[in-house]
Amino acid sequence: MPTINLRGAQKNYGVNSANAVSNLDLEIRDGEFMCLLGPSGCGKTTTLRMIAGLENLSGGEIRIGECVVDCVAGGVFVPPEKREMGLVFQSYALWPHLTIERNTDFGLRLRKLPKAEREERVERIMQALDIAKYRDRYPSQLSGGQQQRVALARMLAINPGVLLLDEPLSNLDARLRLEMRAELKRLHKEFKTTIVFVTHDQWEAMTLATTIAVMNEGTLQQMGTPNDIYDRPANRFVAEFVGSPPINILTFGQTGTSDVADKADAYLAARCPHLAGVGSVGIRPEAIGYATRIEDVPKGSFSGETTVTGVLPTGGNWILELRSESHTLFLTTHVLPRIEQGARVFFFAPPEALHVFDTDGRRIAEADARLSGLAYN
Ligand SMILES: Nc1ncnc2c1ncn2[C@@H]1O[C@H](COP(=O)(O)OP(=O)(O)OP(=O)(O)O)[C@@H](O)[C@H]1O
Ligand SMILES: [Mg+2]
Repeated sequence: MPTINLRGAQKNYGVNSANAVSNLDLEIRDGEFMCLLGPSGCGKTTTLRMIAGLENLSGGEIRIGECVVDCVAGGVFVPPEKREMGLVFQSYALWPHLTIERNTDFGLRLRKLPKAEREERVERIMQALDIAKYRDRYPSQLSGGQQQRVALARMLAINPGVLLLDEPLSNLDARLRLEMRAELKRLHKEFKTTIVFVTHDQWEAMTLATTIAVMNEGTLQQMGTPNDIYDRPANRFVAEFVGSPPINILTFGQTGTSDVADKADAYLAARCPHLAGVGSVGIRPEAIGYATRIEDVPKGSFSGETTVTGVLPTGGNWILELRSESHTLFLTTHVLPRIEQGARVFFFAPPEALHVFDTDGRRIAEADARLSGLAYN
């Protein structure tokens, strides 16, 4: 499948309403598993529907390879059935009067493929998705998860160049979701289909995607590998949206200012003087350590003294809530904490764990370079 390119894509549903999608540049390469991630209403479904051709653009263009499929200025619009894409939405309408086998076969019959070829394909896909044993049943005789697998099989059978999936696992319970995620990942490997997957679940995106595009209020915030998104969030929105428990944010120079934020500001100013009071610092909960004795705090780390106000077990991990005079920090640990609520502890984080953002919330890349070069032991 050639690369799908959205350039300055824009969608406005009404004359006076805000853009559902604004100035979106997105490149989806062959074989990619791209997750569109973002909160409700940020424009994920709209983006997917524009790619599929179910919505036309209000501005910008979409190309598939060198072929323009939608461009308002150029007066071009290629209808969905000519785009060779498979769609699976959250509600997956199977034909109730057809067996599982016939449902899987449905698209191939429409395309009038020879019988032998159809049978071979249907069998292979049903085996791959582990639904062959239900071949003679009707959709109403299957569980939700099994039906969802049939919906996927029906899509895969026609071998679409691109599979567009809009929250296809949202109806499943936790265990089935996990199974289906593993299955999707396996299918992606086996069939090498380009997949665009919409979700508002960060874990789903992190575990599945080769590339994540984070959206907010109709605009692209960051596009990168799951590690990029997590380790180097481009702005505060991405930093706070991805990660659980969420990243700790210390905002500098606010009224009723926090002592920990002041400490972070002073720490940063001592190392990069011109960045003093520049915005905020984020620290992921798992990047923070704690010690009961000050001698155990690594030299050169960002640290402070706090009180333990909560020890929350989460099954194999623990979240510690630490309170200073005016700020709460959360840290996570996988080692059983041997401390009591109310104990005084020292928290610490290495310089490279500090994500520095300017007053507009954008990451300051220079701070990364400077902080990561600092000694820490
Ligand atoms: N047909 C429509 N007419 C008018 N406005 C619409 C229409 N469809 C979506 N919108 C608006 O466009 C914006 C983006 O909607 P969209 O469905 O793309 O969000 P989403 O990211 O998929 O959200 P969710 O996670 O809730 O599914 C929203 O503000 C929504 O209200
Ligand atoms: Mg949606």
